[in-house]
Amino acid sequence: MLALTPVLVAVVCILILWIFKAADRSSETKKREPQTQPWEDEDLKDSTDLHPVEEDAEEQQESEEHVEHIPFSHTRYPEEEMVKRAQEFYELLSKRRSVRSISSEPVPMEVIDIVIKTAGTAPSGAHTEPWTFVVVKDPDRKHQIREIIEEEEEINYMRRMGPRWVTDVKKLRTNWIKEYLDKAPVLILIFKQVHGFAANGKKKTHYYHEISVAIACGILLAALQNAGLVTVTTTPLNCGPRLRELLGRPPHEKLLMLLPVGYPSKEATVPDLRRKTLGEIMVKV
Ligand SMILES: Cc1cc2nc3c(=O)[nH]c(=O)nc-3n(C[C@H](O)[C@H](O)[C@H](O)COP(=O)(O)O)c2cc1C
Repeated sequence: MLALTPVLVAVVCILILWIFKAADRSSETKKREPQTQPWEDEDLKDSTDLHPVEEDAEEQQESEEHVEHIPFSHTRYPEEEMVKRAQEFYELLSKRRSVRSISSEPVPMEVIDIVIKTAGTAPSGAHTEPWTFVVVKDPDRKHQIREIIEEEEEINYMRRMGPRWVTDVKKLRTNWIKEYLDKAPVLILIFKQVHGFAANGKKKTHYYHEISVAIACGILLAALQNAGLVTVTTTPLNCGPRLRELLGRPPHEKLLMLLPVGYPSKEATVPDLRRKTLGEIMVKV
């Protein structure tokens, strides 16, 4: 028995060492695993698609080397006028609210064309203009969009997002029933193009495509407000591939945002939210 003791001690030591190593390996793997959040849309990150197409990494197009430079045209205002314009623009945008109850009254389509043209003035990484604005008016198509979104949103509310998110959005009185998708006269679906194509068909890199499209969306929201229309910014989670297929968009376009656009319904209400003051959002150094 006594002769066995050193062997036993050695076995126990080896076991302890093995347990520590295994624990270390598992924490290393955890560190390396990307930390994804439930509100991060898989489709926005990778090339997930219902029918993936093999892509050739070699097929990249060099960008144009020469662009002519022309004199810049600028309008300069007197300081007083600058303050007045800045204040008026602030007042206009401070009245923008997310409206979730939209009337079915039609809107002038010319206005929709102009606000989208305005969004297309946004800056973009290396002037790649990586956006596609899909305008949907057809009632059947809008209803198909609603069915896809409600199906996914119900999963978001019930399972995907967790109780903290459900509590956070409670004050907004939203749920997975999206009546505005049928009622709003126009839906604008904004897709980011993760790459483009040159005239010769080769792939063109779209730098900072998500930031570029987000800026265009901000300009679109401001243009809608300026035109007297309302919307609500929505990011239909995990609906990208099905909506892309429904709308006949190619796999390199990823759904970033959906805006139902129209006039507010008579009974529309908005949560009485408070915005941060200038002192809370600005730091001067
Ligand atoms: C990126 C982003 C995603 C949003 N997604 C949704 C959404 O899916 N559904 C919704 O009802 N509101 C959505 N909103 C609207 C916000 O809830 C709203 O902007 C916020 O409550 C402030 O209200 P306000 O827009 O009236 O100022 C989203 C806003 C942003 C910027």
